Amino acid sequence: MAFCRTVAGHFPWGLGHLRGSRTVDSTFFYLSAAALAVWLDSNESSRPRRHFRPSCCEASSSSIIKFRVDNDRPGLLSEATEILKKQQLNIRDARISTNEDSRACHFYVVQDKISGSGLSEDRLAQVRAALQELASGDCQAEPWPRYSSKEVAEHSSIEKGIWVSYKDGVYDITKFVANHPGGKDKIMLAAGKAIDPFWRIYQQHTGRGNAVELLESMRIGDLSDPPTADCGSCPYNTDPERHPALIFHNNKPCNAELPAELMLDSWLTPNPVWFIRHHHPVPCINPKQYRLCVDGVGTKKVTLCLEDIKSRFLKREVVTTIQCGGNRRSELDQIEKTSGIPWGFGAMSTAKFGGVYLREVLQHCAGLSHENVEAFEVKHVIFKSLDGMEASIPVEKALSPYGDVLLAYEMNDEPLNMEHGAPVRVVVPGVVGVRNVKWLGQITASRDEAEGPWQRGIAYKGFSPMVKDLKGIDIEKIPSMQDLPIQSAIVTPKAGSIVELDDIEVRGFAWSGGGRGIVRVDVSIDEGNTWVTADLLDGKDAARFVSECSCRRGHFWSLLVNIYHCLSEQM
Ligand code: HEM
Repeated sequence: MAFCRTVAGHFPWGLGHLRGSRTVDSTFFYLSAAALAVWLDSNESSRPRRHFRPSCCEASSSSIIKFRVDNDRPGLLSEATEILKKQQLNIRDARISTNEDSRACHFYVVQDKISGSGLSEDRLAQVRAALQELASGDCQAEPWPRYSSKEVAEHSSIEKGIWVSYKDGVYDITKFVANHPGGKDKIMLAAGKAIDPFWRIYQQHTGRGNAVELLESMRIGDLSDPPTADCGSCPYNTDPERHPALIFHNNKPCNAELPAELMLDSWLTPNPVWFIRHHHPVPCINPKQYRLCVDGVGTKKVTLCLEDIKSRFLKREVVTTIQCGGNRRSELDQIEKTSGIPWGFGAMSTAKFGGVYLREVLQHCAGLSHENVEAFEVKHVIFKSLDGMEASIPVEKALSPYGDVLLAYEMNDEPLNMEHGAPVRVVVPGVVGVRNVKWLGQITASRDEAEGPWQRGIAYKGFSPMVKDLKGIDIEKIPSMQDLPIQSAIVTPKAGSIVELDDIEVRGFAWSGGGRGIVRVDVSIDEGNTWVTADLLDGKDAARFVSECSCRRGHFWSLLVNIYHCLSEQM
């Protein structure tokens, strides 16, 4: 197996991190978000009291079996599961609570395999009898409770419990809201209501992630009056057509990455296959009616149209690589399942952007001088998108005299397209993709950073991989992700491919955030015992486009290795 390691221009964490020790970098936070999957409360008695009801004429979608055993023993769960399977039942959920002295309570949610609904009284009695043969104790089997949307609406506070419905199910999400990767504020919008209309906008929940599975683990019953299927027109109908070569993780909103096969073809990624990371439908904005508002503390408010931006400031060009904070998450998933889109390494792309410097607009047009920053204690510059999201960067980054944060209206010599943020987007070189806000509507100088999950949520903060839930952690105190760390990846040969013991060309890319350039890439074919330095290739060619901070460029790299020769030297 081949490994590569990369050395960047600055060593913010010291060299030790590059030599085998684990780098605590911003990508590790996903382990903690993932831990939500382990959130399942095993303490069944601490759940809000369920109102069991006698079975009514309408069949319930599932039945609940509670099997309280006097003395639990290893293997009892699997024996009980076998019995339920033999009874032709689908097991939707199974848990054990063991905090009642030596007693344990096994809890199963089951469905009849054939009818797909809950069990009749006769079947429930059969199941009860079969389970009671396994161990001494008490077994109750009851239909899944049914609640009306009015009853769900009564549960919209922490005190009363927070319930939501989804399709025909009712869910108690009280303990989950603080851990929601999309933020507490967003999920609370649906407290006591159906989440169906919310998830029609945030369709990433029903994509390839684990949100549906997580929700199912919180189900407490059926909804007696589920919403009708008519949902009106889909807000994603006006999204642009997309290139079929992209690897799609979600369509609504679109999240798609560049395939490895195309990655090394061209240093500047062609626009049609640039990675896409959206949070909402793509907004349709008429460039003639477009207005950008610049305001906030220490500024004089101005509103600019597209023509103002193009004609009142010098046009600048910046070549930069933008990378999603979740890039390469699928590799972390191989260590421990995480939460969120399982990106390969294609959630990053490079372009030559054309536009105007943010600092020139802020200083020369909105009057945000360095003196005003100090006098008004400005700390952040917030970007609000016309799609409804917002994010911010530190004011030092926005105003640095050597920096080149861009308000871009061109991408690879073409007018910026709708998909990538037209008419104007922010490009913040070296900083996590989410701060490179598309469809920019407002820029605000502020003492506080942006609100919302994309700035303050757990998905954009770093935690130790040992953090499995957020109990006792003050999320506000953890800084939001800005610069991304150094990395490199082998693109070819593909991971897991079998190669001849001969000359092979190993190729890949290396990149570092925060303006740190790549100094060297080393490759090992013997699990890190010996290293050979690769040649840095493309990326150097881009120098003529690059402004002051040319070291931020990533590189493609390549190395010809004679595997036979290397291996025989070790023998
Ligand atoms: C009630 C059950 C819910 C569960 C189990 C749930 C679960 C999740 C999960 C697992 C993610 C991470 C997904 C990813 O990164 O791909 C997520 C993200 C998110 N959720 Fe939820 N969610 C729920 C309700 C809601 C509601 C009601 C809203 C909106 C009002 C919402 C808005 C969001 C947003 C905005 C994100 C971030 C998406 C992004 O960054 O693109 N969620 N949620």
